[in-house]
Amino acid sequence: MLRNDQLDQWDRENFFHPSTHLAEFARGNVPQRIVTGGSGSHIEDRDGNRLLDAFAGLYCVNVGYGRPEIADAIADQAKELAYYHSYVGHGTEASITLAKMVLDRAPNNMSKVYFGLSGSDANETNIKLVWYMNNILDRPEKKKIISRWRGYHGSGLMTGSLTGLELFHKKFDLPLTQVIHTEAPYYFRRDDLDMSEQQFVTHCVAELEALIAREGADTIAAFIGEPVLGTGGIVPPPEGYWPAIQAVLDAHDILLIADEVVTGFGRLGTMFGSDHYGMRPDIITIAKGLTSAYAPLSGSILSDKVWTVLEQGTDENGPIGHGWTYSAHPIGAAAGVANLKLIDSLDLVTQAGDVGGYLNKTMADALADHPHVGDIRGEGMLCAVEFVKDRDDRSFFDPADKIGPQVAAALLDQNKVIARAMPQGDILGFAPPFCLTHDEVDHVVAATVRAVKTTFG
Ligand SMILES: Cc1ncc(COP(=O)(O)O)c(C=O)c1O
Repeated sequence: MLRNDQLDQWDRENFFHPSTHLAEFARGNVPQRIVTGGSGSHIEDRDGNRLLDAFAGLYCVNVGYGRPEIADAIADQAKELAYYHSYVGHGTEASITLAKMVLDRAPNNMSKVYFGLSGSDANETNIKLVWYMNNILDRPEKKKIISRWRGYHGSGLMTGSLTGLELFHKKFDLPLTQVIHTEAPYYFRRDDLDMSEQQFVTHCVAELEALIAREGADTIAAFIGEPVLGTGGIVPPPEGYWPAIQAVLDAHDILLIADEVVTGFGRLGTMFGSDHYGMRPDIITIAKGLTSAYAPLSGSILSDKVWTVLEQGTDENGPIGHGWTYSAHPIGAAAGVANLKLIDSLDLVTQAGDVGGYLNKTMADALADHPHVGDIRGEGMLCAVEFVKDRDDRSFFDPADKIGPQVAAALLDQNKVIARAMPQGDILGFAPPFCLTHDEVDHVVAATVRAVKTTFG
């Protein structure tokens, strides 16, 4: 194929890239990368670079790149029936089969799945359904949603509000008033360094209880949280956190929404993070791993408790006024069916647990003693390295120094490994495809050690 020499210029002139410094990109100061192919854990770009993608895109290409089983399923579906809607009782073989496969894998109390397109729209659906539910139950005041600082739940109006990161609020007039935030379960960043992990859990619970007391439990509908904080820094919860939070929510009749967009379908070495941490959610958000990002598809898995009220609502009010043109899009659904079959047949959930354990251990062995590494943490195929100015007093670098981005750039430019500089703090995040091999882990860790050396000398 002839190379289009204008592509770089067209890119800078026409394409609005998300999460990008727009002015610097237009000025040519943000590097472009035009991605052309992928296979296993690697991607290739137009300049001939082959990069090991240790973040699986945006922690979504869980089965790895270039799987013909999923590509063929998408092509077959497109040829047979590219689209039909799912309104008023319509469906396709793919969408109905996928709903069954999702429910077969979900916790026992789950009843139905609503399919959307992105993690953001799935969480938007969740909040609408929770509000609808409380109106049907005749408690119209019970509407506020509790989220955690550093939680990530999307970047729409409601979901951007749920997200507890400054960048997603600033100058967007967010968060909306219905959203209230509580303490992040981020032990490493606790204010009081003398606190034990157990005391920190008690502190998080006390903060939540104080918030509920201040606002009034009869004004609070739901609590949303990722089993492991993702974009906020890749932070597994301290021991005992979820059961303690769950007890508070139960006591105040507050629903739990487990946002499993990252953790769903195996990333922690278990099918769902809720299983992993003993959470008992009323709603589960799924997206990324549902199709391994081969096609856009998300879902809201609803418990019997929620579903019963929704049915009651339509008896009283008529059909539910919620739906997208592309809900349960057949191409996304076909990709989902093929993806979940592949995860089963290759036992990739077990593999994610095994290789992820090896990644976390190898990273810790290699870097735990470095004077600027304050914390190495992870669970399954999630791993983070957090940098500090001084380990003794746990002081952090000035964000303007951009230490995290510098390490990520050294890793990429000199070692051809992609990790992600997480947006708040000097944190290098890893979330590889589940097919990563032990040799590739060794390569990623050795490359990270070199990149840390390049950055700190
Ligand atoms: C936990 C979580 N929820 C929701 C979202 C939003 O998903 P999307 O970007 O598909 O809208 C993300 C995206 O990274 C996420 O990590």
